[in-house]
Amino acid sequence: MSKPIYVLSGPNLNLLGVREPEIYGKETLDDVRALCEARATSLGRSLVFRQSNHEGQLVDWIQEARTEACALVINPAAYGHTSIALLDALKMLDIPIIECHLSNPAAREAFRRETYVSLVATGLVSGFGSASYELAVEAAAGKAR
Ligand code: DQA
Repeated sequence: MSKPIYVLSGPNLNLLGVREPEIYGKETLDDVRALCEARATSLGRSLVFRQSNHEGQLVDWIQEARTEACALVINPAAYGHTSIALLDALKMLDIPIIECHLSNPAAREAFRRETYVSLVATGLVSGFGSASYELAVEAAAGKAR
């Protein structure tokens, strides 16, 4: 059995469904998890799906993914725009990294137009709501060894 795809989500995404639904959609993070699990299963892959509001926790999980994951899907949320710590952790990975956003940050405020994660991401999926996660899982499965 190959290693799982890690799907990590950053701050405030625990409140999906309640948080600015006109931007992020009405589905909850549990709904997104179910979509990701179904897509992974259909592709013969397993998933580890986690969310944290804490930068250091995300760094720990990225480090864990270095040895335990076949690929990483990450929605860094606001930390994508601010966190050199996440970037430095991601730089140590030798697996595909798929950056994922529910909205299209490039079409929003100027401070959202760039992320540190993009510097090291294999590819980026954004703007499709919860489907961004499903597409990112599919891309991760396709790129994983
Ligand atoms: C987000 C976009 C970020 O700019 C924002 O800070 C988020 C969510 C998205 O999924 O669209 O928290 O990553």
